[in-house]
Amino acid sequence: MTTETDAAEIAVDELTPDQAAAELARLGREIARHDTLYHGEDRPEISDAAFDALRRRLEAIEARFPALVRADSPSRRVGAAPATGFAKVRHAVPMLSLANAFAPEEVAEFLARVRRFLALEADQPLTIVAEPKIDGLSLSLRYQDGALVQAATRGDGVEGEDVTANVRTIDEVPQTLAPDGAVPAVVEVRGEVYMTRDDFLALNARRRTADEATFANPRNAAAGSLRQLDATITAGRPLRFFAYSWGETSEPLGATLWQVRDRLAAWGFRLNAPARRCGSLDEMLALYREIEGARAGTAHDLDGVVYKVDRLDYRDRLGAVSRAPRWAIAHKFPAAQATTRLAEIKIQVGRTGALTPVALLDPVTVGGVVVTRATLHNEDEIARKDVRAGDTVVVQRAGEVIPQIVRVVVENRPADDAARPRFAFPDRCPECDSLAVRDDGEVVRRCTGGLICPAQAVERLRHFVSRDAFDIDGLGEKIIETFWTEKLVRTPGDLFRLPETDATTTPRLQDRHGWGPKSAQNLFDAIAARRQIPLDRFIYALGIRQVGQATARLLARSYASLEAWRTAMIAAADRDGEAWHELTAIDQIGPSVADDLVGFFAEAHNLAVLDDLAAQLTVTPVAAPAAEAASPLAGKTIVFTGTLATMSRGEAKARAEALGAKVTGSVSAKTDYVVVGADAGSKATKARDLGVATLTEEAWRALAGFDA
Ligand code: IVH
Repeated sequence: MTTETDAAEIAVDELTPDQAAAELARLGREIARHDTLYHGEDRPEISDAAFDALRRRLEAIEARFPALVRADSPSRRVGAAPATGFAKVRHAVPMLSLANAFAPEEVAEFLARVRRFLALEADQPLTIVAEPKIDGLSLSLRYQDGALVQAATRGDGVEGEDVTANVRTIDEVPQTLAPDGAVPAVVEVRGEVYMTRDDFLALNARRRTADEATFANPRNAAAGSLRQLDATITAGRPLRFFAYSWGETSEPLGATLWQVRDRLAAWGFRLNAPARRCGSLDEMLALYREIEGARAGTAHDLDGVVYKVDRLDYRDRLGAVSRAPRWAIAHKFPAAQATTRLAEIKIQVGRTGALTPVALLDPVTVGGVVVTRATLHNEDEIARKDVRAGDTVVVQRAGEVIPQIVRVVVENRPADDAARPRFAFPDRCPECDSLAVRDDGEVVRRCTGGLICPAQAVERLRHFVSRDAFDIDGLGEKIIETFWTEKLVRTPGDLFRLPETDATTTPRLQDRHGWGPKSAQNLFDAIAARRQIPLDRFIYALGIRQVGQATARLLARSYASLEAWRTAMIAAADRDGEAWHELTAIDQIGPSVADDLVGFFAEAHNLAVLDDLAAQLTVTPVAAPAAEAASPLAGKTIVFTGTLATMSRGEAKARAEALGAKVTGSVSAKTDYVVVGADAGSKATKARDLGVATLTEEAWRALAGFDA
């Protein structure tokens, strides 16, 4: 009898039928397992290349022994069935992330920025609370009259998943708040769900014994345990919770973070320690060093220290930029490093055609995570580091970022190595063989294949359905690739025609292995649910170069409707025209982004994709934030000139923008208000000449509701 382990080592051509049967059984199981890890649980254990190798071996064996093809063979199905999910929860107050600092200078810069924004004099104190940053996942707990009514994950910060049933099983989350006098009618307590290292190791040991897949690190274990559709599974997992922040509250919780921390503790929450109020950079850095020194001995993984402005009135004034508050910063611990062998340099093609070199590595554990691939950025980077296949390399991993190659351990190269050629970057696309060119001044080489390049098309579709874009569940990479190859879906618009296309295709999705009528219907429902989509998501989904989420939001807010945006972008092709000026006048949109927008609209095939979608979808305007809806400044154009006595220019601008106004640098007939501070010069004069309304600082404060 042939054991599976024997057969795994044998070349396809040399397998006996017995060995082939054993291998097909083993490969089928392996592929199914990795498929589930990839599609169902978002935690692949092997590289795409290793996965492809498994599939290729299975297909080669099946080709040699057609009689042995199993009924449940992976070659007969498309991919794992889409995971059914949790209900979505819209956060009343967005869940933000944190900006990062890696060096003391960046922390000093943070303090200077805060002081500048608040226009603090050198002798005015600025108290900062410093506390450990825990590596888990954030959670928002909503309490009504002291009782836990809802628990939601962060999701994309705006919308998360309802995990209430699961969270009710976590001991460290109070079901009711211990009364501390007056518990607010509504309070959302936010913090981190995590697992200690010991609990993580014990959980993995149990899973290994039960022949179940193990988790890569405590963070993944916590995330995987929380996102269980069956709450009884979560109940068996040792999850813990630290409170460090809050969302919506029916009344202010205190005047300082330090006071709120006391209340959180009194209500029954555990707080992260050690925390300290610091009056200077030195005190902050001292706590950082203390926590870093104790890091190895703490029960749970720490990835840095968070510094937060203590006074809550300051925090309100500071507000947020894009997705991170101005009043806090994470000072990260240095990245974990390890040494391994680089097996191969592979070129990947992205949705914009960029050729990105990726290092395939012998698996190595870096900071608790098994790493099998690392980015090499671009061809200059490879040349600079002189990275070659077979080299020993130092790999680094910091937080969520893709692992990087730090350097080659040149000492490990064999003595006769000089003859080994340097890596030659291809000048043709590895996917479609079109010429790959590098424009002057660009670091990136791009495939010129455009629409005929399958890699670009598949990547564009993947981006289109991704979480921050159309967020269509159940469409993983493998499924999209299959749909593309089978010509079921070639453009984003095809997705919305999928039910009709599928009806005339054999085999239909519902008849394919691994699908069935239910999962096919789930996918169609998930797609149908997105026929109505906010304009910012729509713009982001188009995958225009340099247009990320923040830019998409700015565009959606500035142009309000898809039609208006489309018309303006086409008109902006004229650099002397008004549309171009309006576009580049949007704060944070410079000529380079504007160029990419205009370039996108100049291509007939892009317009065709957009119009095809527009004909099938309802694209809704982006709701203005609550503060803005009622604001007298919404839609107004404001110029600040001269020195304001009670606030910095930065704070004035941030407030105006938060209230829906556009802040520009020069006065024109289109300007609504010019706010005139001390020592104002020509802009004040020009405003008067043009008949534009001018405001004193007091009038501005009143209009913007500063003293309300
Ligand atoms: S304060 C406005 N404090 O780190 C955001 N976050 O990288 C308020 N985190 O999304 C966050 N420990 O999930 C804060 N002591 C701590 C934290 C902490 C971990 C997480 C949190 C946040 C992420 C940002």
